Amino acid sequence: VEHFLSDYQPLSFAIDDVFLTFELQPTATLVSNKMQMRALQAATQLWLDGEQLELLSVELDGEDITASCEVSEAGMSVPTAGKKEFVLLIRTRISPQDNTALEGLYRSSGNYCTQCEAEGFRKITYFFDRPDCLSLFTTKIIADKSANAVLLSNGNLIDSGDLDGNRHFAVWQDPFKKPCYLFALVAGDLACHQDRFIAADGREIDLRIYVEPKNIDKCEHAMQSLIRSMQWDEQRFGLVYDLDIYMIVAVDDFNMGAMENKGLNVFNSKFVLAKPDTATDVDYEGIEAVIAHEYFHNWTGNRVTCRDWFQLTLKEGLTVFRDQEFTADMLSPAVKRIEDVKALRNNQFPEDAGPMSHPIQPQSYIEMNNFYTMTVYEKGAEVVRLYHTLLGEQGFRQGMDLYFQRHDGDAVTVQDFRNAMADANHVDLSQMHNWYIQSGTPVVSVESHYNASEQTLTLNFRQRLNTGNEDFKPLLIPVRLALFDHSGQALVLKSKDPQLKLYADQNHEGLFEFNKPQQSLTFTEVSAQPLVSLFRGFSAPVIVEFDQSNQELALLAQCDTDSFVCWESIQTLALREIKRLVDSYAEKTNWMVSEAFTNAFSALVKDEKMDKALKALALSLPDLTYIGEQYEVINPDAIYHARKFLQQQLAQQNIEQWLKLYSELNQSTEYRYHKDDIAQRKLKTVCLQYLTQLDDYIELAEAQFDHADNMTDALASLQCLSHTDTAARKRALGDFYDKWQDDTLVLDKWFALQAASHHIHALEHVKQLVEHKDFVYTNPNRVRSVLGVFGRLNLLGLHRADGKGYQFLAEQVIKLDALNPQVAARMVGPFTHWQRYDGQRQQMMKQALEMILAQESLSKDVYEIASKSLRV
Ligand code: ARG
Ligand code: ZN
Repeated sequence: VEHFLSDYQPLSFAIDDVFLTFELQPTATLVSNKMQMRALQAATQLWLDGEQLELLSVELDGEDITASCEVSEAGMSVPTAGKKEFVLLIRTRISPQDNTALEGLYRSSGNYCTQCEAEGFRKITYFFDRPDCLSLFTTKIIADKSANAVLLSNGNLIDSGDLDGNRHFAVWQDPFKKPCYLFALVAGDLACHQDRFIAADGREIDLRIYVEPKNIDKCEHAMQSLIRSMQWDEQRFGLVYDLDIYMIVAVDDFNMGAMENKGLNVFNSKFVLAKPDTATDVDYEGIEAVIAHEYFHNWTGNRVTCRDWFQLTLKEGLTVFRDQEFTADMLSPAVKRIEDVKALRNNQFPEDAGPMSHPIQPQSYIEMNNFYTMTVYEKGAEVVRLYHTLLGEQGFRQGMDLYFQRHDGDAVTVQDFRNAMADANHVDLSQMHNWYIQSGTPVVSVESHYNASEQTLTLNFRQRLNTGNEDFKPLLIPVRLALFDHSGQALVLKSKDPQLKLYADQNHEGLFEFNKPQQSLTFTEVSAQPLVSLFRGFSAPVIVEFDQSNQELALLAQCDTDSFVCWESIQTLALREIKRLVDSYAEKTNWMVSEAFTNAFSALVKDEKMDKALKALALSLPDLTYIGEQYEVINPDAIYHARKFLQQQLAQQNIEQWLKLYSELNQSTEYRYHKDDIAQRKLKTVCLQYLTQLDDYIELAEAQFDHADNMTDALASLQCLSHTDTAARKRALGDFYDKWQDDTLVLDKWFALQAASHHIHALEHVKQLVEHKDFVYTNPNRVRSVLGVFGRLNLLGLHRADGKGYQFLAEQVIKLDALNPQVAARMVGPFTHWQRYDGQRQQMMKQALEMILAQESLSKDVYEIASKSLRV
């Protein structure tokens, strides 16, 4: 069944209070669900969602009505005898032990935990499993004492004690109304890392991170991240935590990153556990961001929630925007922005250009879990950022304040958010609606005309969607821009155009509100043809077509005060170079790199003033996926070899500089998670990546691997080695395995490196990896480390001309689907882009999809992705 946004119907009944009792047993957990209900309309029947439940009994106001309830695969209908208010008591049995889909109540490393978003609560008990049903929850947990010392649920602990048969119980009560997707239960033998936070209103909040006892020494970074998040949300948004206790539980088996259950977050252990010798800088940053993200959900998601799942971007787009701003403040705003743009272009742009393309507010779904996408999350965050850019920090804050004032305690829509932003600022934002209902990436083409006699510069803007949509509705696109003269001086902007706003504190940058299919903007008193700096800070998630010369780009790269445009200019130069090589792939023996590019690049390598992190970004060539995105038909071999060739040339030509820079940066100091140290390690890694392009310097990677005292350096060097066909590669991989085989998160890295490797026998290696004794299909992180990474990053292995890469991945998807549909559906992703490859590859990719679809009892998760991507 397909669900449509347009079908929304308000509920006919409210569930005001729920009292849940769990008697935990691995294969036979009893759930009793007592609901205090109230009719909102005249009705005699109600429908409750419920799946994979063994129904034991139903009582209406104490009367057994089990026999008159109609049960189906998706739920049951219950006669209510026209009662206005009543108590419904439902008893069911479930088996957490057999739950490999990791949705509902399941077990991970012997501990009980839950995942209810989006529609997992219906696998725990019968309920209105939809976000607009807000109820007060009380949860009683009964379990064996011996294996379940800790019993947790949402809210405050109000009672606990011992029971017969070596059992005990705990009762938790959540004082805030919430939808059932925010329900959580955890039980097991967990250790607790504790701290506290004094909130702005003076209350002391008890902070607890629960982990398996062996991991208790890896919680401090997560705890400090939580404390920083709490502080930041108070300062930036005036949002104070509302309960007296905040708990985070880390589990090894988790379908996504983490979950914001009220007062009891459940996390993928990957986003909690860290110490310098096991976690990289990227891991540390990920932990800080995800801890913040889930914490921020307490207001944007929990206190104000979604009316239905089509509104998912209301909470996710907004919360991602908030976590991006947080990370920017903790580390470097310039670096964070560039990294986010890279991620958007590498992952969201392809999604939006393919058959699974959907607006940030999808209009329909078969399986909601398939819509936790880059589009809903990251493009959604970009759209929230548009409000911020249009309204400014203060205007945005006023909008947020009004949003909470109006909607605290409600389940609302993206329109409600927009109205709050508009009303708080007395502006009309109705055109922003078009960002929510149209899929595809907007393309903005710009032409500039300089008129020397009039001393004017005119910019002509046009917009369209890359999906070529016929009835395209124009978007409101904020364009931040500046002009520079050829000596690199920013010009004072002069224009009479009412659509252009100059920032009050400086007249060097303007904000152009581009909101029609075509629009032009004229600057006056421009005494010579200037350089144009457009979409500064990537002020809108669009593809820009603007024909700037290589000289102009090289100048902008040097003089622009906006670090995004600096970086972008260099990337564009590199991209042009790579494209030239790709287009002459047939004559690759004659490949040469242009001198203009080499000179610009060498200047950059020598630049000593530039921020190290920005320099590392600038020196990194565009990613393979982003290069591929430039083509209608992607030629994996040409793209891979062109990039590789350029990398080798740049290594060779600057060898002295790379060696000098590398040895300067390769100073061992005690690991600190600090932006300066992170930048130093990042730039060092870039040096090593170039150096190891040359056989003579592979030993540098070996030396770094042998002497590294932190995981960032160790992994960076191992990664360099992993792409080589050397004895050093084998030796280092072996040593790494021996050292870390008992640490699952570190072992994931070992698997992932090999799955991403450009080694000539990568596919054979990956086939061996799934046979490895440490490979388990039931652990999503392990599966993603091998199959996810292979599909996403191993351009050569997946797209092998003989089709064996496709065959392998399709077989794996089928195997996995029987265990965990949600994760299996994600692994289908690479196939959805079949239209972007040559005829033969298209055939083979479609065959793989058809082979998947031919499976009996395919999950709706996998079915939706596979069938929709063939239906074009
Ligand atoms: N709300 C969670 C987050 O963004 C994501 C959980 C989604 N889980 C799922 N199975 N769809 O933090
Ligand atoms: Zn989220």
